[in-house]
Amino acid sequence: MSPVAGGDGGKALVVRDVVAGYVPELDILRGASLEVRDREIVTVLGPNGAGKSTLMKAIAGLVPVRSGSIRMFGDELVGVPAHRMVSRGLAFVPQTGNVFPRLSVQENLEIGAAARGVREGLDEDLGRMYALFPRLGERRRQAAGTLSGGERQMVAVARALMSRPRVLMLDEPSAGLSPLFVGIVFSKVREVRDLGLTVLVVEQNARAALAISDRGYVLAEGRDRIEGEARALLENPEVGALYLGARRALA
Ligand SMILES: Nc1ncnc2c1ncn2[C@@H]1O[C@H](COP(=O)(O)OP(=O)(O)OP(=O)(O)O)[C@@H](O)[C@H]1O
Ligand SMILES: [Mg+2]
Repeated sequence: MSPVAGGDGGKALVVRDVVAGYVPELDILRGASLEVRDREIVTVLGPNGAGKSTLMKAIAGLVPVRSGSIRMFGDELVGVPAHRMVSRGLAFVPQTGNVFPRLSVQENLEIGAAARGVREGLDEDLGRMYALFPRLGERRRQAAGTLSGGERQMVAVARALMSRPRVLMLDEPSAGLSPLFVGIVFSKVREVRDLGLTVLVVEQNARAALAISDRGYVLAEGRDRIEGEARALLENPEVGALYLGARRALA
C-alpha cells in the first residue's frame, strides 16, 4: 500500500450513501456514493438537476449532509466547515463566480495561496502556475475580468492549485468554452493529475471529459446510477444515448 494513502486503502475520496439538501424537507442527494482513488481523474455525468453540483458542494461542506459519510484519505469530512477544507487538502472550483474580476491574474493567485495561510513558497508556487499556464504568466498584471472565458477558467484552476490541495474538484470546467479551450482545459487537468493530484470533475461535455478520465459515474435523481471505467462508459449504449449525443453513431 502507498505510504501516503492513509486510511481507506489508497482512496482519496469515499462518498457513502450521502443524503443532503439545501432545505430540511427536500433531499437533493438521496443516497449518493462514489469513490476516487489517489491520483485518479473521475468524471461525474448526469442530466440537469441530477445533483452533480450539489454533490460537489456537499463534499466541500457547502450543503448540509443529513446522513452518510464523506472521507478524504480516511478522514471524515462531514461536519468540517467549508473554510477548513483547504487545510484538509481539498480545493473546489465552482462553475461560476470563480475569479475576482477586478483583481489582476497574479492577485487572484495570491488569494489562493492566502487560503492555505502561509506566505512561504509563494514565488515558487506562482512560478509553477505560470509554467503550467504560460498564458497567465503573460497576463499576470491584467484584470482577470478582461480575460477570455478559457483564460478565466485557467485562473480559477491555478488559484485553487495555489492552496496546494491533494484533491481538486472542478464543476464544469469547460462550460461555455470554444472547442480549442475545451481541449486545453482538459489537457491541463491531465497535467495537474500528473503533478500528483486527485481530480473529480463534473461535466456536460461527457466525451471530452471521459477521454481524459480513468473512471466515471452517472448521477440521476440524486443517486449514482452507472459506474465504470471511462472507456467502458464511452462505449455504454445507455450513456451514449443520454450524454454522448448523435456523434456516437459516427464514432
Ligand atoms: N442553492 C440552492 N437552493 C435550493 N435548491 C437548490 C440550490 N441549488 C440547487 N438546488 C436544487 O438542487 C437540485 C440539483 O441541483 P444541482 O445544481 O446539484 O444539479 P446539477 O446536476 O449540477 O445540474 P446542472 O447540470 O444543471 O448543473 C435542483 O433541483 C436544484 O433546483
Ligand atoms: Mg451543476
